[in-house]
Amino acid sequence: MILVSFVVKKEPEMRTLPPARILAIESSCDETACAILENGRALLASTVASQMDIHARYGGVFPEVASRQHVLSIIPVVEQTLVQSNLTLKDVDAIAVTRGPGLAGSLVVGMNMAKGLALGLGLPLVGVNHLEGHIYSAWIYNAGESIPAEPQFPLMALLVSGGHTELNLMTDHLTYKRLGATLDDAAGEAFDKVGRLLGLSFPGGPAIQKAAEGGDPTRFKFPRARLDNPYDFSFSGLKTAVLYEVNALKKQHSTLPVEDLAASFQATVVDVLFTKAIKAARDFGAKEILVAGGVSANRALRDAFQSQSEFKVHIPAFSLCTDNAAMIAAAGYYRYALGHASSLDIDVQPTWPLS
Ligand code: KG4
Ligand code: ZN
Repeated sequence: MILVSFVVKKEPEMRTLPPARILAIESSCDETACAILENGRALLASTVASQMDIHARYGGVFPEVASRQHVLSIIPVVEQTLVQSNLTLKDVDAIAVTRGPGLAGSLVVGMNMAKGLALGLGLPLVGVNHLEGHIYSAWIYNAGESIPAEPQFPLMALLVSGGHTELNLMTDHLTYKRLGATLDDAAGEAFDKVGRLLGLSFPGGPAIQKAAEGGDPTRFKFPRARLDNPYDFSFSGLKTAVLYEVNALKKQHSTLPVEDLAASFQATVVDVLFTKAIKAARDFGAKEILVAGGVSANRALRDAFQSQSEFKVHIPAFSLCTDNAAMIAAAGYYRYALGHASSLDIDVQPTWPLS
């Protein structure tokens, strides 16, 4: 178990929405996390206990092992976050928690901890959709640092994680119109599967990015799926194309050109995600674009969006791209402030669409 934690100074901020300090818990997959956030944007402290090393042995997340690890980590992670923030539970106004989507046995651990805190402290409980959390990660900044511009609506949100890839038009806070989604593998899942094919470590995303640094992205021409709905995605054909190429290359050579394969695969995924998000933003009159989820940590994807000037683009800080609780606190704040707190008898929702 690796504990990563950071703390930043408190800072008051003027808002039209009511001020509130949210303590959030995230345990939907293989990260046990807690964070405290002020007024939906200013991050006071965030702790993430990653189980990655444990699951890497299995080449993917082992659900039973994940839930047992959450049980071991949850209390130390909450305690550490409080210590880092220099706050006590009395300073918190509401408890937010990931309700789904995710692994049932993992979600339950965070939900029970959150319910216990809310009940014991007499605080409101806010159940948050994990995908909504990823989107709201783009609102967060470290308290004490300069305040970045807030995303403006209408906003085209590209969500690219290990389990989901979708385009949503946001016309207001908490309001999503799903324009399209993956018909098969999520973008992160494609990175993970291709990483395995190339003999790289788990998770595949960061490993492919690293291998691609020394590779030629134009060496292999991989296909892009043509779909009826131009805002949908499909990555399973691309993964199969990489598999065929790998098999053919193995027959001819003793060593695989892993770097060129990784670079060519990554360039194809980035091109598909970038092109569709820009088209959707144009077609639906979005003012700005938001990119979030684990794959938004990808350097080539960030560069693609940051090197165009047609739309202002919001991408979370690297540390907030993959799973964390700060993003759950951000979404939880807007739910709480806009009157969407939950009752204490909510249950986890392992398959819970955003819209
Ligand atoms: O959002 P996330 O932490 O978990 C889910 O909600 O699914 O996303 C994890 C995914 C994994 O598939 C991982 O390979 C991918 O994000 N990922 C990346 C990078 N860092 C993480 N993919 C491409 N490039 C990266 N640098
Ligand atoms: Zn996630």
